Formats: sequence, C-alpha cells, structure tokens
Amino acid sequence: MKTLPRVELAHLPTPVHPMPRLSAHLGGPELWIKRDDLTGLAFGGNKTRKLETLCAAAQTEKADLLITAGAIQSNHCRQTAAAAARLGFDCVLVLVGQAPEIPSANLMLDQLLGAEIRWVSKAARDDTLQSVFAETKAIGRRPFLIPYGGSNPIGAAAYAFALKELMGQDLNPDWIVFASSSGGTQAGLLAGARLLGYRGTILGISVDEHASNLKPRIVRLSKETMGVLGENLSVTENDVLVNDDYLGGGYAVMGDPEREAIELFAQYEGILVDPVYTGRAAAGFIDLIRKGLFNKADRVLFWHTGGTPALFADTYRKDLGAIA
Ligand SMILES: Cc1ncc(COP(=O)(O)O)c(C=O)c1O
Repeated sequence: MKTLPRVELAHLPTPVHPMPRLSAHLGGPELWIKRDDLTGLAFGGNKTRKLETLCAAAQTEKADLLITAGAIQSNHCRQTAAAAARLGFDCVLVLVGQAPEIPSANLMLDQLLGAEIRWVSKAARDDTLQSVFAETKAIGRRPFLIPYGGSNPIGAAAYAFALKELMGQDLNPDWIVFASSSGGTQAGLLAGARLLGYRGTILGISVDEHASNLKPRIVRLSKETMGVLGENLSVTENDVLVNDDYLGGGYAVMGDPEREAIELFAQYEGILVDPVYTGRAAAGFIDLIRKGLFNKADRVLFWHTGGTPALFADTYRKDLGAIA
C-alpha cells in the first residue's frame, strides 16, 4: 500500500483494549474497543486521522484557509477548526442552522478555536461552500475545501492506514463495528482490508442514511481510495456491510436505545460514547449482541470514532442528566 503525505495531528497508535465487564453483562462474545476518541486534537475522533492527510494536501497546495461544512454540532467542523489552529490556517465553517443565543459543546469549541462561522439553510449549504471559496480566492486568499465529513479519497485513505495500525496491534478481530455516516471511515477500512488482506467482517452501523444510499457511495469512495493508494482491486456492494436498522428518530435525535448504550458503556467500562454517532452505533452493537449475531468465540471490536463533546450540547444535557 502506497503512503500519502501526512501531517502529524493524532497521537497514534490509539489504544485497543478489552471490555470485559460489558461483555459479561451482555453475555456476549469477547468485546474489544479501538479508542479513536483518544486521538487528541481538541477531544479527537475519526476526523483527526482524515485531517492528517487532508491538511498535508492543503499544505502542498500552499493554502492559507480551510473551508468546510457540517451540522451545528459537527465533530468534523470542530476537528477542522482545531487542525487549522494547530497548523496556522484560517478556518471558515459553513454550518447548517441558526446561531443559538448561547453556543454549547462543539459549536462553542469551534468559536474557541477561532473559526469564522457562516450560518446557512441545508438547501444553501453546497452553494455557500462554493461561494465562500470563490469570494476568498477573489480577495487573494488561498482557500482549500475540505469535503463534507472529510470524506474524499485522500481523507478516507487515513482509515486504510488506521486498519494497518490495528493489524499491527496483533488483535485480529473477527468483526469491526462502528458508526458510518458520510462513508469515508468505512470506505477507508474497506480499501485497507482489500489491500492488506484483512479477513474479518467490517460492519458499519448507519447513523443517518438508508443502506441503499450509503452503500453505493462507499463502493465508489473505496475504489477511489484504492486508486490513491496505488492499486485498483474490485469492490462491489456485496463487499459492503451496512446495517440501517438503528436510524431511530432521525439524525441527531437521541432515543432510548442511544441513551441505554451511553449508560452501559459509561457504567460498565467508564467509556463515553456520544448521542449522535457512537451512541447510535453502540446501540446497534448491543442489540446485535443480544440477538446473537456474533458467535460466542468471536472477537468483536467496536471502533470508537469520537464525538464525545456532543454529550454537553444543550439538546442532550437535560435528557442525559436524568440518567440516575
Ligand atoms: C463521532 C463520529 N463518528 C462517526 C462518524 C462517521 O464517519 P464517516 O463520516 O466517515 O462515515 C462521524 C462523522 O461525522 C463522527 O463525527
């Protein structure tokens, strides 16, 4: 597998460790966790890895300004703002929604990290991204567009490297389960699996999209990612495992399953998962254990992709505070 230019933003390798109490409580197989919530960089997460390759590309292009977009509580935007601060880029975030009176959680951190924020409607998001790019270029800046979720082949490739890192940690899990949304993490893991010969099963729990939409995107991105990594092996939708049974009340709506997953990970392992991504994936993970998807002898890895600042968003605090 070819390497790509990277800037160092993450503390790697991230730890991998067993979750014996959660496993015993669920009467499940051997459960493990890969801690990409501990990548560092302003509370970390999966975007730290993607930003290592994306920011290297921005530096190669001699950019001086990073522009990206996301939801009001976007972890990707918080991480981009932090990477920009660390590397000396300016940062413009195009956020969907309206400025709240008092910003909380990721949004508060975006501001603290020095990002300039433009508020837009969802319909205007993509056009605004392009217009901010054009507008800043016209006044002599050197903008660099970081794609939504950091999910282009350069960003996704970081998860092929991440799989290599995991394979070097000698765990050899039978399953890898994680939250999938823009598809970059899954596309990168899949590309890495093909190129490195990983034989376990990679299962993305969809956070916000039906598998029929997400799978073709992952196939395309995975192929393009293998392209930048120097080999073109075939990937079809049959190679992509996405479970969309846990979409619940929709994107960012925390329901009982997410609340229970947050509680179980916290109270049995001292690990925090978030209401939007990792809590939803953890809820699916727990349900699939209860349903007996995994064999007792399997080694099952939950890949924690971060997002923990959202626990402190005003939207969730009241609900989570009610957990006894
Ligand atoms: C905490 C967290 N986990 C998982 C994901 C999903 O990753 P991807 O967009 O690469 O599918 C995101 C995306 O924003 C995220 O913030």
